[in-house]
Amino acid sequence: MRKQIAAANWKMNLNYEQALTLSQTVISGLPSLKNHQQVIFGVPFPYLLPIVDLAKQSEHVSVAAQNCSDKSSGAFTGETSVEMLTSIGVTHVIVGHSERREYFQESNAMIAEKINLLLQSNLIPIFCCGEPLAEREAENQDVYVAAQIKESLFHLNADQIKHVIIAYEPIWAIGTGKTASAEQAEEMHAFIRQTIADQFGAILAENCSILYGGSVKVGNAKEIFSMPNVDGGLVGGASLKADEFLQVIAGLK
Ligand code: PGA
Repeated sequence: MRKQIAAANWKMNLNYEQALTLSQTVISGLPSLKNHQQVIFGVPFPYLLPIVDLAKQSEHVSVAAQNCSDKSSGAFTGETSVEMLTSIGVTHVIVGHSERREYFQESNAMIAEKINLLLQSNLIPIFCCGEPLAEREAENQDVYVAAQIKESLFHLNADQIKHVIIAYEPIWAIGTGKTASAEQAEEMHAFIRQTIADQFGAILAENCSILYGGSVKVGNAKEIFSMPNVDGGLVGGASLKADEFLQVIAGLK
């Protein structure tokens, strides 16, 4: 079975003490997880190293950075390179989150560069895609998301794509309390899997974890995760409280 993943995206929240308490409480409270089930903490840069350390307590827990530079090193003040992340034991990086696309003008081409650097260093990109409300209302979401995937992933080879996790996050559902219905999520996830199959073949597509993100919470996680093409979630708000995130994790299939 392909990996089923509950990934937390803390965004720019929590102070250091709160971050340590949250991650330790989640790790201590984990239900017994199956081999194919995984938990990932998407952690702000200053806390990565200690939380990588805490995550060693469970083989099911990994740590992701929320971003990385599209350059490998040099005079880029304030940026964080893939090599820096590798050197402290980070294994995953969220790339192309809609907030980075919107507020930091990240393009599909720039995201492709980040993915190249990550894969060269054996780090796993959690590649985010998803349409804004206007595209959904115009029923253009398939075309929009397919273009994001083509421009950031289609240059990869089969050996590379198998290390990529995809997160479908409709922008209209992020932080709004407005979740896609389980059927809407399933429909788009099936489309994304077909898009990957058309380019890379059915077997690779079948093994690709596709997470849903956008107002996943205790009350809807299990239903959304139960859909055949949904392999867990990328969770913002509900990942900031240990008890809520633990219940989301319990919804993994
Ligand atoms: P949300 O955020 O769960 O708070 O909607 C999800 C995300 O942006 O990854």
